[in-house]
Amino acid sequence: MARKILTEHIHVPGIETFDVYRKQGGYTAVEKAIKSMSPEEVVEEAKKSGVRGRGGAGFPMGMKWGFLAKPEGVPRYLVCNADESEPGTFKDHYLMKTIPHLLIEGMIVSSFALGANKSFIYVRGELMYVIRILEKAIEEAKAKGFLGKNILGSGYDLELVVQPGGGAYICGEETALLESLEGKRGNPRNKPPFPAVKGLYQCPTVVNNVESISNMPWIVNNGGEAYAQIGIGRSTGTKLISASGHIQRPGVYEIELGLSVEEFMNSDEYCGGIRKGHHLKALVAGGSSVPILPANLIMKTANGEDRLMSYESLSDGGFASGTMLGSGGFIVFDETACIVKNTWNFSQFYHHESCGQCSPCREGTGWMEKVLHRIEHGHGSMHDVDLLVDITKKIEGNTICPLGDAASWPVASAIRHFRDEFVWHITHPSEATAPGAAYRGDMALV
Ligand SMILES: Cc1cc2nc3c(=O)[nH]c(=O)nc-3n(C[C@H](O)[C@H](O)[C@H](O)COP(=O)(O)O)c2cc1C
Repeated sequence: MARKILTEHIHVPGIETFDVYRKQGGYTAVEKAIKSMSPEEVVEEAKKSGVRGRGGAGFPMGMKWGFLAKPEGVPRYLVCNADESEPGTFKDHYLMKTIPHLLIEGMIVSSFALGANKSFIYVRGELMYVIRILEKAIEEAKAKGFLGKNILGSGYDLELVVQPGGGAYICGEETALLESLEGKRGNPRNKPPFPAVKGLYQCPTVVNNVESISNMPWIVNNGGEAYAQIGIGRSTGTKLISASGHIQRPGVYEIELGLSVEEFMNSDEYCGGIRKGHHLKALVAGGSSVPILPANLIMKTANGEDRLMSYESLSDGGFASGTMLGSGGFIVFDETACIVKNTWNFSQFYHHESCGQCSPCREGTGWMEKVLHRIEHGHGSMHDVDLLVDITKKIEGNTICPLGDAASWPVASAIRHFRDEFVWHITHPSEATAPGAAYRGDMALV
């Protein structure tokens, strides 16, 4: 069995309560950090661990903490990004609802490290029941002296606020989140200044993902170096993967980074293989925003090496033959899936969720949806395939926030790897629009 950092105690009955969590060693990291470490020492352990942000971009957490400005007399904030709205990603939701004290403990040690006395957990607004679970956990921790004024008699104060999100995917983008937290419309901000200099209420702020922060209790207890021993290369530690689609065992799995994609996909400990009698056609490895890979590039890289569940291996080959680990939303498609329909489906999401600030994204996501709709419904022309590619190029890199890239990459990669399927939809409209139709062509299936 692989090592578990986040989910080791997740199946212990009553783990959502303070008492059971405490019995499993919970809150020892708070005691250790507050009683025997300086904030700088906690930051140092985060740096040594090499843990990278689990919200999607994979930026090293300790390095981000090191950028936090510390002007005299100005408050600093830690904001936990629990907005989790990326299609295919549902791991933060799972962690918060099953073991809420892990995040609360992570928030306390991280806030202590950053010198924050008021911190926020911004939770996807639809998850009201999770918000109540977190609020209950906060009340319990407060009653036991781990939160509030003078934590464990140390003189350190921390107030933790749970804020329901604005109900939009864009509110997961860190600066849109800060706007929303300030009570405004969730529009991303121009950067610089970055949140580390001017974030919430124009004060220095760190925004980190739920899973990133939940690693901190283990890192404080065991040391950053021990964390860095787990995983592979610069992909240290473990990662929660949300597995869905045409597999035997969908769910949330904690893996050691560096596990082979093949083992993750086929082992009974994880996905358990493709559903019976079917073949692997395509994979979206890191949530709807990352490039889709065809079967022949999933288990092996273009160089024939085993593809691993790591930041580096998944992106091997760049956009030509690689993808990204992203937020770990692992969506598997067998040969019954229609890539055109799926791409159209994703494009509807991005069009709906574009905040509308930047014209390339506001207009381009709408055009992509429209063109994909007509190809999917048998009214496309051959010109449409190149038109789509052209639109993706006009959006990518031309927007304030990366939602534009996130909308472009699924379309660009689907055409790059499955152009024949798009062409078939255009040249065989009546076959392509028949119920349950999916292109088989001569594509390599595994
Ligand atoms: C459109 C969009 C949506 C995002 N949604 C989330 C989200 O729901 N949760 C999250 O942690 N990061 C999300 N991010 C990434 C955040 O902007 C930010 O990089 C992240 O919260 C930083 O935390 P980390 O370094 O711990 O990953 C999103 C980014 C974009 C562009």
